[in-house]
Amino acid sequence: MRIAQITDMHVKRQGEMLTPGLDSYAALGAALRRIDGLDPRPDLMVATGDLTADGKPEEYAALRDLLSGLDMPCLLLPGNHDNRENLRDAFPDQPWEDGQFLLYAVDDWPVRIVALDSVVAGKPHGEICAGRCRWLDKTLSGQPDKPTIVMFHHPPFVTGIAYMDAMGLADPSGLAEVIGRHKQVIRVLCGHIHRPIQTMFAGTAASVAPATSFQVGLDLIDPNSILLTKEPPAFQLHNWTPESGLVSHTVYVEEYGSWVRPAHYKSASALEAEAEEN
Ligand SMILES: [Fe+2]
Ligand SMILES: [Fe+2]
Repeated sequence: MRIAQITDMHVKRQGEMLTPGLDSYAALGAALRRIDGLDPRPDLMVATGDLTADGKPEEYAALRDLLSGLDMPCLLLPGNHDNRENLRDAFPDQPWEDGQFLLYAVDDWPVRIVALDSVVAGKPHGEICAGRCRWLDKTLSGQPDKPTIVMFHHPPFVTGIAYMDAMGLADPSGLAEVIGRHKQVIRVLCGHIHRPIQTMFAGTAASVAPATSFQVGLDLIDPNSILLTKEPPAFQLHNWTPESGLVSHTVYVEEYGSWVRPAHYKSASALEAEAEEN
């Protein structure tokens, strides 16, 4: 099973810039074309929040328009730049459960996908409150033996990028307690930081995917400033097999061409054949 993860698309209406020269609508279009062209194609795409620039209905309409060209199921969840009501209204076909938060579990593939909503309305930081932890515990208890990805926007660990950590996930201890008890959780997937980052959390691997819009500079010192760098837009491809589990690749949206391979670089099977001949 192959899952493409995009995040932090910060989509604006077509032709509107996120900041001078930064066309997040076009950037997402390019990312979707790259994903669509992957061979083999992913079975599923997930988008881990900050789907739009400001959570406006017209931005969700633009996002819907872009996603309509992708012939692949797509699961969404909100980030701090989103608006729950507008997102729910624009995408009534997402598997949202009823209630205040945008939560769901999907069992259509060999890997189960569980989505949490880490948004605190009107605030940049995130929270997974006791109620959402209880929902997660109950949901994970329903399928204890199926490999499961849990995904939400705000990463549950300190990244070292001080500006972003100041708007991180509030006290993740309740979440850690729940995830730590459910050994079928093979990965926690997040966004929000706009860089590829990996660590361990509650006994499982946790990662942040790079953004399709802009990347945040690697500043491990200054909590008061942030660099929106021109590092290349990227996404992640999570490849699951029963033998190897979930293996994650970072893929750049742009294709950069290739070098001529030196003649003495040979495949393992070619070297083996040569050894047998000699
Ligand atoms: Fe973001
Ligand atoms: Fe965010």
